[in-house]
Amino acid sequence: MNVQKVGVIGVGGWGENHIKTYVDSPLTELVAVCDVNSERADRIAAEYRVPNVFPDYRDLLAMPDVDAVSIVTPDFMHAEITLAALAAGKHVLLEKPMATSIEECVSIREAVAASGCMFMVDFHNRWNPPFAKAKKAIEDGEIGRLLYAYYRLQDTIFVPTKMLSWAGQSTVNWFLASHCLDTLMWLFDDVIETVYTVSRSEVLKSKGIDTPDFYASVVQFRNGGVATLENGWVLPNTAPNIIDFKTEMIGTDGVLYTDGSHHRILQKYTQDNASYPDVLVSPTVHGKPTGFGIESIRAFAECIACDRQPMVGAEEGERVTRVILAMEESARTGAEVEVLIPRPS
Ligand SMILES: NC(=O)c1ccc[n+]([C@@H]2O[C@H](COP(=O)([O-])OP(=O)(O)OC[C@H]3O[C@@H](n4cnc5c(N)ncnc54)[C@H](O)[C@@H]3O)[C@@H](O)[C@H]2O)c1
Repeated sequence: MNVQKVGVIGVGGWGENHIKTYVDSPLTELVAVCDVNSERADRIAAEYRVPNVFPDYRDLLAMPDVDAVSIVTPDFMHAEITLAALAAGKHVLLEKPMATSIEECVSIREAVAASGCMFMVDFHNRWNPPFAKAKKAIEDGEIGRLLYAYYRLQDTIFVPTKMLSWAGQSTVNWFLASHCLDTLMWLFDDVIETVYTVSRSEVLKSKGIDTPDFYASVVQFRNGGVATLENGWVLPNTAPNIIDFKTEMIGTDGVLYTDGSHHRILQKYTQDNASYPDVLVSPTVHGKPTGFGIESIRAFAECIACDRQPMVGAEEGERVTRVILAMEESARTGAEVEVLIPRPS
């Protein structure tokens, strides 16, 4: 086991979870951060005592003693930085979605293979305890063969209007369905072959954010499995929590239900306020970052320190991107769309 020197590129909302994890882990030393927003990068570096701060990712990648980087830039800004990091010989933990075009995904997949570096896409629901238990139940045959799944992951309108300055340059499909699709293909242990998607643009468009309000999709797997997905960005801000997150998995011999909307586990009512604190995604417990949003990053740290391959690599990232592109096409054309299956590397 070797302590790995790491850098984080993009230190916005989610980047801070990568920073907290690396600072907390005995397996990693956070040596550099980078953000085009210098003010934010300087503040984060001071708060977490990071010795090197850069506005340009190329300067971070030029540091010879950096072993690995997390890339936590907006959805459509992943490929160029990832390719540069791999070319510089750094292991990469890349936020979802891997990239937003097939060409970019193929380039990343080929660059990973050529570099010999570790590469992981942060599909952290594989570390989400209800899904990990569901996967085990399915593998153990407890619900028979998985026939059908329903997957709802919706955000309040806070996310596209206040949290993300770049929502109009992405979609809730890239932001949320990417998680759902990886989880579904993992649970079904199968690839998605066709998609039919409907979306509508009204509420966000009227606020000047040109991105759909929601997508409703039916996807079919190669071996006959079916799933419906609902991904939206317009739930009211009075909703108990920022995410509404429910699934149902029906097998030939049983059913599994999950509810990851963290408004039922801890309910807090004071004289002035009702709140439902996060206890699942990235809460701090006894001063330590924890939750499945942290565990996936910790798993990457273990992989690079112990020389183990990550559970989720470039193939999984690419197949998700291919499905999302098919969903976007289906929403545009009104037709069912076949997913282009990747060529093996
Ligand atoms: N795993 C999850 O559940 C999860 C949750 C939230 C966000 N994300 C993903 O993380 C990524 C970032 O999302 P976020 O919510 O932190 O967004 P954000 O806008 O809060 O942060 C992005 C940061 O990247 C910086 N940036 C942009 N271009 C850059 C560049 N070329 N070089 C360096 N820095 C640059 C921005 O200044 C900003 O600080 C997205 O891909 C998003 O989908 C994942």
